[in-house]
Amino acid sequence: MKAVIYDRYGPPEVLHVAEVEKPMPADDEVLIRVMAAEATKGDCEMRKCEFAVSWLSLPMRLVLGIRKPKRRVLGGYFSGVIESVGKEVEEFKPGDELFGSARLRLGGYGEYVALPESYTIVPKPSNISFEEASSVPLGGLNALHFLRLGNIRPGEKVLINGAGGSIGIFGVQIAKSMGAKVTAVDKTEKLELLRSIGADHVIDYTQEDFTRNGNKYDVIMSTVAGASYPDMIASLNPGGRYLIANPKFMDMLRAPLTSMFSDKKAIFAFAQEKPEELLALKEMIETGKIKAVVDQILPMDQAPEAHRLVESEQRLGAIVIKIGNT
Ligand SMILES: NC(=O)c1ccc[n+]([C@@H]2O[C@H](COP(=O)([O-])OP(=O)(O)OC[C@H]3O[C@@H](n4cnc5c(N)ncnc54)[C@H](OP(=O)(O)O)[C@@H]3O)[C@@H](O)[C@H]2O)c1
Repeated sequence: MKAVIYDRYGPPEVLHVAEVEKPMPADDEVLIRVMAAEATKGDCEMRKCEFAVSWLSLPMRLVLGIRKPKRRVLGGYFSGVIESVGKEVEEFKPGDELFGSARLRLGGYGEYVALPESYTIVPKPSNISFEEASSVPLGGLNALHFLRLGNIRPGEKVLINGAGGSIGIFGVQIAKSMGAKVTAVDKTEKLELLRSIGADHVIDYTQEDFTRNGNKYDVIMSTVAGASYPDMIASLNPGGRYLIANPKFMDMLRAPLTSMFSDKKAIFAFAQEKPEELLALKEMIETGKIKAVVDQILPMDQAPEAHRLVESEQRLGAIVIKIGNT
């Protein structure tokens, strides 16, 4: 089968299309013909083996391979069709259309991926394309996970920092669907998109520091690695919650202290990516509460360009790699 592979860590050009062995599903696994995969910031970080928060570098290098990548096919989030199933598989059958997460097994940049049926793979929303579906799991699962931890009540003021990114785009929409008044923070070029997906207020971080304008929020969700912990906590109303998607090491030490010694909470977590959460997202898409936002769909041989667009943030929505000749 064909796959976008990389044999060494490095710039986008290390990605190239090659023939690799087609995976064989084990008894409890499904073999999926991949239709599309999102090119994510996480994929770019793994390609370079450099991570936005530095404490992740050592554990991730141990997982990915110390000198060179052990798993040559990136791609954590995808959509596809079941090709065949192992003999113990009960929930899926050939022909089922699905979307989901390959977790750290990765493999979504290849024409086929084999995954345990227990992974977060669920039927694809019926009203969107494969390309749109592939752009949902990363952003949707993370945003939903964090915002549920924030216990948002209707009418509360929620600020999404990094709102124009993969997680933020879903954060804005999911917070709105929870009844929040949403302020979205990102750069100038992304503000119109953020208004179009429902943000009540937008702030251009290149022009204004929202932590200095006197406004306070009930919940702040941030995906921005460099966000200042004290500034974020100071921008919360009493009882406010700070949801940290990209915590620095010091943030992880401070968070329990904030929760213990003040009336505010700081919550960091790694999204568990549960099937139940992806099913909730499917339902939200099918009922029109949230939508996928895809900027560009590129073929496999343009994977380096896909990564360049994601890394340089020259995008308004997801960059999707179309897999195979579909
Ligand atoms: N905790 C977890 O379980 C978990 C799960 C998945 C991912 N992550 C991590 O979360 C990070 C972000 O995720 P993502 O995929 O949503 O990233 P992303 O798509 O790169 O989104 C980040 C957004 O923040 C914007 N931004 C940059 N600097 C900013 C600033 N100072 N203020 C406001 N906005 C700013 C970026 O736009 P510009 O750069 O154009 O301004 C971009 O739109 C990644 O590093 C990833 O590793 C954590």
